[in-house]
Amino acid sequence: MNAATAAAAPMPATRPENHVIVLFGATGDLARRKLLPGLFHLANAGLLPAAYRIIGSAPADGAPSDQEFRRHAKEAVRQFGLTEPTGASWQAFEEALSFGAADPQDPQPLLDAVRDAEQAIGGKPRRLCHLAVPPGAFTSVIGMLGATGLARDTRVIIEKPFGTDLASARALNETVHAVFDEAQVFRIDHFLGKESVDNILALRFANGLFEPVWNRDHISHVEIDVPETIGIEGRADFFEKTGTYRDMIVTHLFQVLGIVAMEPPTSLSAQALRDEKAKVFNSLESLDPAAVVRGQYDGYLAEPGVDPHSQTETFVALRAEVDNWRWAGVPFYLRSGKSMAKRRQTVTLHFKKPPLRMFPDDAQDDPASERGNALVVDFDDPGWISARFLAKEPGPAMRLGTAEMTFRYADSFRRRHGLEGYERLLLDAMLGDQSLFTRSDSIERLWEVSAELLAHPRPVQPYAPGSWGPAAIDTLIAPHHWYLPDGN
Ligand code: BG6
Repeated sequence: MNAATAAAAPMPATRPENHVIVLFGATGDLARRKLLPGLFHLANAGLLPAAYRIIGSAPADGAPSDQEFRRHAKEAVRQFGLTEPTGASWQAFEEALSFGAADPQDPQPLLDAVRDAEQAIGGKPRRLCHLAVPPGAFTSVIGMLGATGLARDTRVIIEKPFGTDLASARALNETVHAVFDEAQVFRIDHFLGKESVDNILALRFANGLFEPVWNRDHISHVEIDVPETIGIEGRADFFEKTGTYRDMIVTHLFQVLGIVAMEPPTSLSAQALRDEKAKVFNSLESLDPAAVVRGQYDGYLAEPGVDPHSQTETFVALRAEVDNWRWAGVPFYLRSGKSMAKRRQTVTLHFKKPPLRMFPDDAQDDPASERGNALVVDFDDPGWISARFLAKEPGPAMRLGTAEMTFRYADSFRRRHGLEGYERLLLDAMLGDQSLFTRSDSIERLWEVSAELLAHPRPVQPYAPGSWGPAAIDTLIAPHHWYLPDGN
């Protein structure tokens, strides 16, 4: 495949209406790493509204002044952004930043900041609130938005994890719906904003090449693999309450599974796409705790802030079954963990083998060996897709060797407009497009299939940092093998 011939795609001209954006948790980790650098990148790409203001918010205790918040944002962009925060573009962005502290008992500084920002813009700008706060704070912030009237005509982005089980997700949905209509709610899962995850829709439904074989007749099993090399990065408080299942699997990996497994939607509208994803989740069988390996890396218990007897998992590998006409009998193997050997974000579709009788040297090949056909989608930015197949090795004999055809985003198209997951989703929320956001029924269904696992988790098994997880994962996937494109 000659990736260099891929044509340059024009950018849609849509620009959001004028906006006041309120970032709750503005001094936290997510705002520093993703949201502030992401908003600056959107500004540089000409994708923020013609007029906008960004108000940081957090509880009054230790809240920064406007000037301190601007310095904080500049440092965040310098450390995590794509473009240096200098020159006229930074100055314009910085002038749009202010801070408004808010406590449930005293939201006045925030209300004043919103009023000032709306007056500065003029007319009737739209309002977007991003709740980048710990899950325990959602309810009080939502209550405050309702009580102060800030919720009226406002769109709200709610971070994951949405609840910690079915009961808490239902309760949170009730809290949200007491204040917001579903049309105002944008539950974010930044994996759905990744270019290469979105591209799975194009790969499947814009080509006649792949979709006809994208089913149980041709595919033996599917892997969704997201090992990470980072540990918990000082987030013991969050991680101890969350663990890898809630942080990564029930959120990111299941959402990717939804895109990989869905039927063709009738259109790319939010309703059509989310309906198809919901159908996949409705077909998901309840997870069997015996088909879930929970791991904990050696040394986790000694991390500052971690309970020395903690059973929180830093690793999960599991088998999921989608019991519908397309996928019955095709296991989906999901794996994610911290402190692992490599960082990867891949979906691998393994194809069934044809008979190899006419290639006697290869016919004895172990039927479970991973030498067969596979389609690998790497969805880490910038992402790539590779088809693995067998080809004749050069020489007088007919021997088969493994070959690959690869498309790389990094070498193709115009990267100038490439957006990171958070950037794309912030833009979509400003445009009011819910397609890539998760819906309450789907989230509740995912907690429902998790109920047995959450009620009866197996003990965590140790694994060495820098490894691929506990040894039991090999039994889980047998007779197949965990496969990553560059070895495992
Ligand atoms: C976050 C999780 O949602 O996603 C983190 O809380 C994880 O634990 C991160 O490391 C992975 O995201 P990315 O942007 O590296 O793909």
